[in-house]
Amino acid sequence: LVLVVDFGAQYAQLIARRVREARVYSEIVPHTMPVEEILARRPQAIVLSGGPSSVYAEGAPSIDPALFTAGVPVFGMCYGFQLMAQGLGGTVAHSGAREYGRTPVTVGEAGTLLEGIPAEHSVWMSHGDSVTEAPEGFAVLASTQVTPVAAFEDVERQLAGVQWHPEVMHTQHGQQVLEHFLLRIAGCRPTWTMVNIVEEQIEAIRTQIGETGRAICGLSGGVDSAVAAAIVQRAIGDRLTCVYVDHGLMRQGETEQVERDFVAATGVDLKVVDAEKRFLDALAGVSDPEEKRKVIGREFIRVFEAAEAEVLADAIAQDGAKVAYLVQGTLYPDVVESGGGAGTSNIKSHHNVGGLPDDLEFELVEPLRTLFKDEVRLMGEQLGLPDEIVHRQPFPGPGLGIRIIGEVTRERLDILRAADAIAREEMTRAGLDRDIWQMPVVLLADVRSVGVQGDGRTYGHPVVLRPVTSEDAMTADWARLPYDVMETISTRITNEVPDVNRVAVDITSKPPGTIEWE
Ligand code: XMP
Repeated sequence: LVLVVDFGAQYAQLIARRVREARVYSEIVPHTMPVEEILARRPQAIVLSGGPSSVYAEGAPSIDPALFTAGVPVFGMCYGFQLMAQGLGGTVAHSGAREYGRTPVTVGEAGTLLEGIPAEHSVWMSHGDSVTEAPEGFAVLASTQVTPVAAFEDVERQLAGVQWHPEVMHTQHGQQVLEHFLLRIAGCRPTWTMVNIVEEQIEAIRTQIGETGRAICGLSGGVDSAVAAAIVQRAIGDRLTCVYVDHGLMRQGETEQVERDFVAATGVDLKVVDAEKRFLDALAGVSDPEEKRKVIGREFIRVFEAAEAEVLADAIAQDGAKVAYLVQGTLYPDVVESGGGAGTSNIKSHHNVGGLPDDLEFELVEPLRTLFKDEVRLMGEQLGLPDEIVHRQPFPGPGLGIRIIGEVTRERLDILRAADAIAREEMTRAGLDRDIWQMPVVLLADVRSVGVQGDGRTYGHPVVLRPVTSEDAMTADWARLPYDVMETISTRITNEVPDVNRVAVDITSKPPGTIEWE
């Protein structure tokens, strides 16, 4: 275990991922955690992240220097590098010279940390203060034009640091530097592989649920719930029941993908609830986006809870179960952002499910709680899930309901499903699936325009393609699709979908637009 101490920079999650890419398991802890508590977790090494402040600023986050003399290897980056220098008796100066962005660095004596790394390379910097004197016993390894001490190490005491950000993409050889610290200086072993993670998780799930417990999991068709269900199934077999609510707002083939492909790949016990009519009845006459979301959310909970009650009533009838386990696909970033620690959670969630005994308790099983999204995909591959599920692009819970501008009807859903299927097929054919974050296809159901097809005048609906690139859906840019791909999609949709006679492309970034239209 490597602990990444977060000094409030946006980089801590990225650092934790990079450590894991070196096959060493890592978790993030806040800088406010007392040193004894950090050490009590028995980390093999500690990484101090960058931070937004100057070590001299009032209220600047700091760390008890006892951390550096506890015999645990420590690596400091940027702000963490300065804290290490300061904490061990070096000098950090307000030089007034700042370095931001790509900066050339010169490696002198390379030591262990920078061994084999080109003498001149460029790194990503973001700092105002500089280390002007390394603490006693440290070898200075690199400098820049304004920073005399840009990297140092004391191999004997297993301490090292760099002024730059090795975790960011723009830093050359960053991963190599991090690995030199982890594997050579700190002596960590690169054993954190997906095979081991899957085995460990299966053990943990078995321990939590025990020999007789029963679990239930809602499948959405998305990657997180699918992977969570698949691994729990491996652990407890048919004591897991999955519930999939078909709200009728899915894209073409998606329900079949869950019903057929997912079940074939995992052997999971699946209960499909066909609730299309119920959802469409509830949505009749509704065209306000927020109202649609409310209706869909409300119906979803009702249908899911009814199914849950049925499954559990069965279990109780069979073996008198008193605890039921609810599987959720919570990911590590959610855990970090909500300030919680990693590990299996013991949260008891009190569900209000009609018709079940009051003393039945729900306990959460969250097998993805320590994983990042890309690791969840790797786990899915390791568990043998189909590519279409593992690499599925994000799709909103309310489904096509929020991609039909206007009232949602069965007929309109069928039109949109046909157009969307063509767009997806052509994107896959062009090999663009992994370059595009997602591409909603939107039906402007209340708009008609005049067209001409064959000898006749048409009066059909437009659809809008909304291809975007993004890192996290918080911001997005419109994707520059190749013209020939857009042309094929447009020609096919207008030829093959009778009610659509126009295809438009949305070229708005987010902000100001959102990704979805509603
Ligand atoms: P927006 O449209 O806000 O979308 O830029 C950001 C990301 O979130 C997805 N999205 C939703 N997901 N329920 C969901 O589960 C929703 O109501 C919802 N609305 C938007 C959207 O597809 C995009 O990935």
